[in-house]
This record gives sequence, C-alpha cells and structure tokens, in this order.
Amino acid sequence: MEPRAAVRIVVALGVLVLAGCTAGSVGVRGEPGAAGVRDPYFPRLGNGGYDVQHYDLALDYDPATGRLDGTAEITARATQDLSAFHLDLHGLTVESATVDGRRAAANRAGDELTVRPRQDIEDGSRFRTVIRYSGFPRPVTDSDDAHEGWLRSPSGALAVGEPSGSMAWFPGSHHPSDKATYDIAVTVPKGVQAVSNGERAGERTVGGRTTHSWHSAEPMASYLAILAVGDLRVTTSRTPSGLPVVTAVDPKAAKASADLLGELPDYVDWCARHFGPYPFASAGAIVVPSERIGYALETQTRPVFPLDQFDGTTLVHELAHQWFGNSVSPESWRDIWLNESFATYAEWMWREDFEDVPVEDSFEAAYEDDENWAFPPAEPPGPDDLFASPVYGRGAMVLHQVREAVGDDAFFRIVRGWAAEHRHGNASTDDFTAYAEERSGKDLSEVWDVWLYGDGRPETP
Ligand code: ARG
Ligand code: ZN
Repeated sequence: MEPRAAVRIVVALGVLVLAGCTAGSVGVRGEPGAAGVRDPYFPRLGNGGYDVQHYDLALDYDPATGRLDGTAEITARATQDLSAFHLDLHGLTVESATVDGRRAAANRAGDELTVRPRQDIEDGSRFRTVIRYSGFPRPVTDSDDAHEGWLRSPSGALAVGEPSGSMAWFPGSHHPSDKATYDIAVTVPKGVQAVSNGERAGERTVGGRTTHSWHSAEPMASYLAILAVGDLRVTTSRTPSGLPVVTAVDPKAAKASADLLGELPDYVDWCARHFGPYPFASAGAIVVPSERIGYALETQTRPVFPLDQFDGTTLVHELAHQWFGNSVSPESWRDIWLNESFATYAEWMWREDFEDVPVEDSFEAAYEDDENWAFPPAEPPGPDDLFASPVYGRGAMVLHQVREAVGDDAFFRIVRGWAAEHRHGNASTDDFTAYAEERSGKDLSEVWDVWLYGDGRPETP
C-alpha cells in the first residue's frame, strides 16, 4: 500500500473510533475493569473496577438430571469509570445479562465473563447486574487434587468453594478481598432439602417444587458460600445464649454424628470465651457421608464435614475459622496461614482443655514433624501448597512463639483484639505482624524472621 493511502485509512479509522465513543455514552467514558485482582496465586480470581455489595441468587436445581437454572442479581459499586466489567464463571451457559435493567452484551472467554453495559458506569456509582445462566455445573479439581465446586450426589449436590470452586455455581467476583452479603434461594422438588449459609428466610412450595431461602446479613467471601441439596435431616435450635443453630445431616450419617452435633452449642461457647463474641447471626454444621467430600470446610455459619472427619478437634478447627478466615478474611491467598494457624492453634487449646494434652506438647509434636518444615508459612511456593502442613502446623507454631514472647495475657489480648479489629473485613500478614507488635509493645521481628519467613527448622524451639 502506498504511504499516503495508509495515512488516509488511519485518519478515517480515528474518526470512526471517536464517533463511536461519543455516540453511545452520555457523560462518563470508562475503561474496562481488570479481569482479576492480581492475587499472587490466582491472578484471574476476582475482578477490577467494582466492589460487590450483595448477591441475590435464585437457583433452580433438578437432582435427577443435574441441571441448574440460575439468576444472579449482583449489586455493586464502581471503583472506576467502567465501560465493561468481568465476572468469574466456570462452565455453564450465560443466557442474558442486564445492567440497571437494560440489556447488556455478555462475552465469554474461559472462566471470564465480560459484561458491557449500554452506558458506561460512573466511578462511585452503584449498579445492578442480572445474569441468567444454566447448565450442568461441574466439580473443580484443585492443583492439590482436592475436589471442590459442584459435587453431585445421588439425591442432590454439595457446592463448596475454597479456594476457587464457587465460580462453578454462580457468577461473581470470586476473590476473598471482595466480600458481600447474600440471599440464596434454591428451588428443588418438594421433599428435597436445600441448606445454605445464614438464616432461613422462607420455605414455600408451589406446584410440587419448594423454594428454600437463606439470608446472610454479614459480609462473606464467596469461597465460603455453601449449598447442600438432597436427602437431609434439618434441625433448628438455639444455643443457651440464644444464637440460632441449623444443622443438616444426611440420614446415612445421622446416627454416628448425633452426639457431637448435640454438643455444637458448647463448642461455639468455648470458642467465644477464647476468641470474643461469635461474629455471625447463626451457627450450625452440615454432615455428609465420607465419600461425598475429602475434607471439612469452614463454610460461613455452616461448616461442612465428611462423617469420618466429624470429631472434636475438626469441629473446633472449623468453628475457629468463623472468627479467623470468615469474619477476618485473608487479603489475598498468600495470607492463608492467618486462617489455618488460628484454626490449628484452637485445636491445640481444645486438646489442652478436654484431652489433657498441654499446648506445649502439641507444639513439640509439630516441631518434630518434618512435613511442617517444607516452606515458611507466609510464603507457600505455589497454589497447590496453600493447604499443606506448614500453613497449618508451622502457622500454629508461629502463634505459639508469639505467646512465648509476649506472655499469656498479651497473647490473648492480641487474639481477641485481632478478631475485633478486623471483624467482617480483610487483613494481611503485614497487618498481623504490625498488630501483634503494637498490642504487645514488643519487637517481635525475631519470631517473624525465624518462624514465619525463615527457611528450615530452627535449632532449638
Ligand atoms: N480450609 C479447609 C480446612 O482447613 C481445607 C480446604 C481444603 N481445600 C483444598 N483445596 N485443599 O478445614
Ligand atoms: Zn482450616
């Protein structure tokens, strides 16, 4: 092509682009929000340019075929002028998208859904996007081989999402830094149960199908959302202090779990004595047959357990997460040790109180265990190490070292103060180390250097 002709084409294109921009938008001219929040382990989880405030999910599930029909109504606040924004969604087909009631373009590339509203969204403004979707939700296999996402069962399904499985059943901003409140309503054939997080907000049967509605008024990270559909025995009670308790048990696991489920209110009270007021409006547990899931998970207000892991220490572990992980959530997945260290330390404390095993003995056993020394807890080498031994065992050793350095009074002031200071929020490892030093008035850099960040086992504990 001759150079002059090329110039003419470029100029003509420029005019077209300018015309395109001014024609469609009134007011602001935005940019697309980022596809992820640059998590060090999962750069594409979460999305840039907005904060979700509330998810209103209406799901219709057919256990016989495994088909899910969903409507996700997401209320968010823009944090930049937006021409388009992303949602994370794994599998499933998007049927339509709207923004503030007007049809919006929706494009799919892998687990990223891009929504382009007719009009750009102004920084700071609230908007509501409604996504209709359907299909056959699938499990997600993590790099550590754990199964999450949507786990189908003979009579229903179990949906769990740490760290990234929640995108298998609803579109959203699936990073722990973007917490929101939730309404989850699930319609299933009459007689089938559907249990989720929070408090029951209704149960209505129309034409042989029942809608089970659940409400979470406190902010929740999306990885903590749970849905258990199927043949479940659901009971509602209250702790002595009046906190509503909802438990759901598969009939095959009912007999073997009954005693410990009966003690759940005592466990919640024990945690509250040590960690401060329980952070949510209800508590509970879900117990399923062991083959359903390979691990217990601290899903908000309603942790889930495979029967073979439903024991006192695991129960106290998942309940401790309600304070550490669920109310105070990690800023990024690098901060995962802040979840697992406290939950493991709670097990050590519980064994001291109820099994006559001093915390020092648990510390000693963890110190001797070679698996705990594979890497420093604050720096898991990759996404498949987020739930490896050092995050748990060595994480708890870090807390015990803090306790040794500052004394019991200051230590429990730090533990309770940390839960209070960041209640319903997010916090990072740096926030914690700064908080522990400020609260105790001590320089703890040696503890951090050796136990939190150091390579290998120190000579003497
Ligand atoms: N947070 C859970 C617990 O400590 C474990 C989650 C396991 N997830 C995984 N992908 N390995 O109880
Ligand atoms: Zn845990």
